[in-house]
Amino acid sequence: MALLSLPILWAVSTLALQYAAARSQPRSGSQAGDCSASTFTAALPQGASVELTYSVPGGGSFGEGASNLGYPLNATNLPELCAVIIRASSSSTSSYRFGLFLPTKSNWNSRFLATGNGGFLGGIDWVDMAPGPHYGFATLSTDTGHNSASTQTWAYKNVEAQKDWGYRAMHGSVDLGKRLTAAYYGRDVAYSYYSGCSTGGRQGLKEIQISPNSFNGVLVGAPAWYTTGLMTWLTALGTWNLPSTDPKAFTTTAQYSLLASTVLSQCDKIDGLQDNIISTPEACKPDLSVIQCGKKGVDTRNCLTSQQIETAKKVWGDYYTSKGDLVYNGLELSGENQWDVYTLHGAADNFDTQWEKYWVYEDKSWNWKQYSEQVFYDSVRANPGNATADHFDISGFRSAGGKVILYQGLSDGLISARSSLHYYNETIKALGGGGVDDFFRYFQVPGMQHCMGSPAAVRAPWYIGSWGQPARLPGTAASGGYSVPGFQDPQHDALLALMRWTENGTAVDSIVATAWDDDADDLTVYRQRPICPYPKKATYDNQGNADLASSWTCK
Ligand SMILES: *[C@@H]1O[C@H](CO)[C@@H](O)[C@H](O)[C@H]1NC(C)=O
Ligand SMILES: *[C@@H]1O[C@H](CO)[C@@H](O)[C@H](O)[C@H]1NC(C)=O
Ligand SMILES: *[C@@H]1O[C@H](CO)[C@@H](O)[C@H](O)[C@H]1NC(C)=O
Ligand SMILES: *[C@@H]1O[C@H](CO)[C@@H](O)[C@H](O)[C@H]1NC(C)=O
Repeated sequence: MALLSLPILWAVSTLALQYAAARSQPRSGSQAGDCSASTFTAALPQGASVELTYSVPGGGSFGEGASNLGYPLNATNLPELCAVIIRASSSSTSSYRFGLFLPTKSNWNSRFLATGNGGFLGGIDWVDMAPGPHYGFATLSTDTGHNSASTQTWAYKNVEAQKDWGYRAMHGSVDLGKRLTAAYYGRDVAYSYYSGCSTGGRQGLKEIQISPNSFNGVLVGAPAWYTTGLMTWLTALGTWNLPSTDPKAFTTTAQYSLLASTVLSQCDKIDGLQDNIISTPEACKPDLSVIQCGKKGVDTRNCLTSQQIETAKKVWGDYYTSKGDLVYNGLELSGENQWDVYTLHGAADNFDTQWEKYWVYEDKSWNWKQYSEQVFYDSVRANPGNATADHFDISGFRSAGGKVILYQGLSDGLISARSSLHYYNETIKALGGGGVDDFFRYFQVPGMQHCMGSPAAVRAPWYIGSWGQPARLPGTAASGGYSVPGFQDPQHDALLALMRWTENGTAVDSIVATAWDDDADDLTVYRQRPICPYPKKATYDNQGNADLASSWTCK
């Protein structure tokens, strides 16, 4: 599971001048389509160089193996393509790398696709670039300026690396990536797209905030957009489930399962259909006395103490400071199966005090016992790397014709579904309070966890062709690189829906999500159901087969 997939200006303007110089150079027609360094070198500004070019045969694989710490897995079952690695400087003391997959000239769809990253991982994400060339995209991933697994020591007292992760590596990579694509094919990119989830969601939103012309369309999932508040909340969550030595206080994985099944049994039917999918969590008020230890008829071996129930309510609730400032929205009902990711460490120190240690306070000795709500104010004031993507006025992107599809699993236990709704609401406000349907649509995916997946007891349809999903199927060989193989059309594939909306003006009124019989083994459809632009919800016609999309409409 991709973990929480969770900016100065001198360098940007210097690069802009260099780009302008590069642009004025004529392209060499004879080199177009030649997968060698010389094809690309001429298109690069000073400070950027070709690290490697490699011709991948059809069915081949490519990656950097274990030395690529954030993404050690190689992409497999690729179509024939040219793989390129570029390194570019971002300041006198920092640089980033990015990778490109360039399909053959005849397979290129004239489009460019940038893909996002996960959490604080550093490295080129070859695996999640892999679907792109199957669609025909020239596809890019940036390393965000560092090479690391989940440890964030690279950010310690390193303002330039923080900016690279915050926005600069993505911005620079996209700009250069488009130029290199044009150099390779001998003509400009016709349309440019973005696909990412979690940190990748934040990166996509950030890029359209700082650069309205980078993309024509963005597919953004479960965005970790409010970095400063989210990271503070994460630390707070860890402290709520303590001490781990006190069985009355500390909630275990088994107890999270009990909580999840109790919520499912009480909240499922509220939407009018018992199908193990909670579609209206906001309407449910679960009665937890049925699992409260000591209550009549409650199994004493399988129950939650009143203290644990209070903790659960805090996790579901929005987290405000005592001054009334919202730190972060709480997790929506039905995400309990993923709560262990943040809260089972027994010290609150494991996953995420790195934010306070390396970014906010630059103090390696900082520990969770120092946590107070002041951390939130300090985090917001520091806004390290200008990573937070909270400039909601994206009128520049809108007037350039840009389109946004935002999607969010309602059973996400890592990123609050309400924080995505919050982002959508704030966008409406920032754009004057009118409708934004002409260019920005928000889709909730009932039963989907963080970016992908659904609990075994739920099996909600969530495959929509978005970031990270194809890698969950048994190899791109069986799936052809798609997450909805057999349904590569704008009705079922969000990327194709986004393209049609952007290029042909056909607004996305629904996307049919798919669940497979067995993701690992059998890509027969288990069930399909539309997801709908907020505030519409998929509504059952009360007669047809509920597992067929045709029995549902968006209302
Ligand atoms: C991944 O690619 C690297 C670089 O080509 C290679 O060294 C490594 O063996 C590959 N790993 C696997 C599992 O194929
Ligand atoms: C920080 O990012 C926002 C977009 O999210 C941008 O509008 C702002 O100018 C950036 N600030 C700095 C100091 O770079
Ligand atoms: C978003 O706006 C809707 C409609 O005004 C409101 O019902 C909802 O509570 C808001 N949610 C958040 C999280 O801001
Ligand atoms: C736009 O419409 C044309 C004509 O129907 C179709 O051939 C093309 O595939 C559409 N483009 C996209 C991106 O859907």
